[in-house]
Amino acid sequence: MNSNSYKGDIKDPSLINEGIQRINWASREMPVLQKIRTRFQSELPLRDIRIAGCLHVTSETANLMITLKAAGADVQLAASNPLSTQDDIAAALSLEYGVPTYAIRGEDNDTYHQHLEKMLDFKPQLTMDDGADLVALLHSKKPSESINVVGGTEETTTGVIRLRALANEGNLRYPIIAVNDANTKHFFDNRYGTGQSTLDGIIRATNILLAGKTLVVSGYGWCGKGLALRGKGMGARVIVTEVSPLRALEAVMDGFQVLPIKEAAPYGDIFVTVTGDINVLDYDSFQLMKSGAILANSGHFDSEINLPILNDISEAKNKLSDFMEEYILADGRQLIVLAEGRLVNLGAAAGHPASVMDMSFANQALSLEYMAREHKKLEPNVYEVPTSIDDEIAKLKLNAMGINIDSLTEEQENYLKSWTLGT
Ligand code: ADE
Repeated sequence: MNSNSYKGDIKDPSLINEGIQRINWASREMPVLQKIRTRFQSELPLRDIRIAGCLHVTSETANLMITLKAAGADVQLAASNPLSTQDDIAAALSLEYGVPTYAIRGEDNDTYHQHLEKMLDFKPQLTMDDGADLVALLHSKKPSESINVVGGTEETTTGVIRLRALANEGNLRYPIIAVNDANTKHFFDNRYGTGQSTLDGIIRATNILLAGKTLVVSGYGWCGKGLALRGKGMGARVIVTEVSPLRALEAVMDGFQVLPIKEAAPYGDIFVTVTGDINVLDYDSFQLMKSGAILANSGHFDSEINLPILNDISEAKNKLSDFMEEYILADGRQLIVLAEGRLVNLGAAAGHPASVMDMSFANQALSLEYMAREHKKLEPNVYEVPTSIDDEIAKLKLNAMGINIDSLTEEQENYLKSWTLGT
């Protein structure tokens, strides 16, 4: 770890100005968060509360951390993925904005975990997670450190699944709000954010033309829906693979071909996993893929493509560029893996655009404010974002976009409340 005068562990302090500029640029597309920041500055709802964040270190996250500081909180940040950190942002946060940041792009797993431990040394009262690694650490190796924690938030589908499993076992130690489940989060971030940023990552890594290619999307949750939609929009022929009959049906009626992965495998030019599960692309499908197929993952963890098996059945491996590695199989076929099988949108591109993160992080900021105020009334469990927060964010976003909508007349309101009027 670095031992410099600033607090944090970052790659290169000289990147500070680049970081500041990019944080300012992102803030222009985050009007809802800015509005919340202005109110926080005068009300200080998080005064002197220690908040530890484990999030992707991006220009959008920086705007969230600055907003929490404006609310009076004492904040620290660690990366939520070894490959997603933007080093210029980490430098700006640590050196300019007083947010000690422990994150270095490409850090090894040991350093990643040391950085997470730094969040616990800080004795947080609130935790903010993306993928639940911080909460998992608190509940496995360091349970005694949870003594000061009164509540938390979780950003993503994968993390919410882990937390519900922990709560179902009866072992969750404090209440956590599932930010992911707010409508103003997953309708937009998961769908349009992942849809766009995943293709951005694939295109930046490979510069391939999508038109005319067969794109196999594994998983038709909100992220998969967005990816399939945007892939189709760029001219790809999209095949969806699913395990849920309901989602498979949705994909069919949205106009996509649905196949089991083994039937899709021979057709795919590009495969993208967005399921949140493990080994979605595995030995059997590797054996059926055509030479030159491109494999990427946009789920939170790097476990969706079985890389250990791919490694075992490969005779050689070549690094083609920073984000492309070619695996050469015994029969001579080449399979190309992007961004080490880690989330391609943050590994090979800059993550979701600020405009959607505006709503996701407005949910984070308002949920932390709510948790700071209400935690004494909440049992250790996983909670929804209050509807009032979700509705407020939708209104603020529309407002910032200059879009007006209609409202119900009194007659219409009464009609909706009554059962007597019919045929
Ligand atoms: N997750 C996906 N995109 C992101 C971004 N731009 N910042 C933080 N977390 C993200």
